[in-house]
Amino acid sequence: MKRKILFVCLGNICRSPLAEAIFSHLVSKEGLNDYFHIESCGTSGNHQGEGADPRTLKNARENGISIQHTSRKLNPEDFRNFDLILTMDRYNFRETVKLATKHGLQHADIRMMRSFDPHAPGADVPDPWYGTEEDFGEVFRILHRSCSSLLDSLRNENPALSGR
Ligand code: 4NP
Repeated sequence: MKRKILFVCLGNICRSPLAEAIFSHLVSKEGLNDYFHIESCGTSGNHQGEGADPRTLKNARENGISIQHTSRKLNPEDFRNFDLILTMDRYNFRETVKLATKHGLQHADIRMMRSFDPHAPGADVPDPWYGTEEDFGEVFRILHRSCSSLLDSLRNENPALSGR
């Protein structure tokens, strides 16, 4: 059985596509592709159909990560299709829980991305949209740390993964 993981931000062009790409990279490096289905989306839908932000693409490329991405909006089906939904900040956590509750899906496993960050558990991944190149770099470091810790945690939960 695959673990189905969905990363969620606002526009689905900066933070969550990067989280998806970093986590996919780590999974692939460990030879665990068959065990995961990984996607990302946004709560706003304002950038639907667009690729990732050029600043995110540049930042990822400089860190050896490639991104192929088309932005899409969070939808109610996601609560049935994914096991674990990780939101980038409090605002998007609330929006995601609101949509799940509206559709009667109160048991969806929705958590903050940085609940997996050992440096600042539960903090927001800062929105880099109005930020500098350094802010995009900081988002990369936060997401890389959180994705590594997320993968460790899933491996500890599942002996089939930890033995590989
Ligand atoms: P994201 O970043 O939620 O990490 O994709 C943003 C993208 C677009 C906007 C804000 C944040 N915007 O205001 O258009």
